[in-house]
Amino acid sequence: QHESPRESRSGHRRCARHRKSRGGTSPGEWGEGFALTILFLKWTRRIYPINCWENVQNVLRISLVVALVDLNQSVGEECKSDLDGQFGEDNCIFIQCDVTDAGKLKDAFQNTVKKFGRLDIVINNAGINNEKNWEKTIEVNLTSVIQGTYLALEHMSKEYGKEGGVIINVSSMAAFLHSPHQPVYTATKHGVIGFSRAIADASEQGSYGVRINTLCPAFVDTQLLRTVEHEETMGKFVKYKDEFKQRMDKYGVLKPSLIAEGMLLIITDESLNGAVMKITCSKGIHFHTYEPLSA
Ligand SMILES: NC(=O)c1ccc[n+]([C@@H]2O[C@H](COP(=O)([O-])OP(=O)(O)OC[C@H]3O[C@@H](n4cnc5c(N)ncnc54)[C@H](O)[C@@H]3O)[C@@H](O)[C@H]2O)c1
Repeated sequence: QHESPRESRSGHRRCARHRKSRGGTSPGEWGEGFALTILFLKWTRRIYPINCWENVQNVLRISLVVALVDLNQSVGEECKSDLDGQFGEDNCIFIQCDVTDAGKLKDAFQNTVKKFGRLDIVINNAGINNEKNWEKTIEVNLTSVIQGTYLALEHMSKEYGKEGGVIINVSSMAAFLHSPHQPVYTATKHGVIGFSRAIADASEQGSYGVRINTLCPAFVDTQLLRTVEHEETMGKFVKYKDEFKQRMDKYGVLKPSLIAEGMLLIITDESLNGAVMKITCSKGIHFHTYEPLSA
């Protein structure tokens, strides 16, 4: 069962699963990473009880088509062909795009809507860990998330005559547990939370009909974690890599499947707007709590 922030702040059971199979409900893995910036579409307006994974699988099997947007052509094509194999062709498109190219990102949204007719769920997930080229890290991790959110609103917000939807922006536990090893990465992930919470309030007050939430995983076993040891990505901060690796040993490394589980919960819980979901080895899926504002 999903524990929403209004109910309980305690941990969530661990349950490995993600790959959807037509025939069964057995858990599986994506393999490497939850790698792609993903736009889910055609979200059904029917309410499904999501008290078990089987129901979630059924909802996805029946209701969704997906646009995968990523810089990496080969990974994108591989993911598309995997999804085609499981769900049939025409339910997924891959669009090769650098999210820092504002024109191309705009086209990616437009082409998605042209293909599928509507847009309901957007996940701004692309991220890099590069302290040497820190300007690029800001562009990918923060500017593109802001750009992706504004484009998503153009296609989903009632302000623009659309029907509403949900946006998930991917931050990191680095926003809560800063490290000398990643100063700019840390800053971008703080920025994602601040932006997402503020725009979530704007959405609520402006009746956009769009829920905007943030997901903050701790260390996850993906390609990104493999950049932390190298001078070409970490620059002079590479000297702190041993301290960083000690933290990984201390706090543990999550499987991508648990992040996928948290992602589905934050998408489907219609009570959530401005929420910040944290996923850690010790507490599983849970939510950050904020003090009420006081003068
Ligand atoms: N791996 C971790 O420990 C961890 C922890 C917390 C948060 N995160 C965040 O999760 C998100 C996903 O990262 P991941 O761990 O799956 O890493 P990953 O490297 O496996 O995936 C990142 C994806 O982003 C794509 N990408 C990078 N730059 C791009 C660009 N300019 N345009 C389009 N696509 C681009 C890459 O091709 C890749 O497919 C990131 O925002 C990351 O900061 C990761």
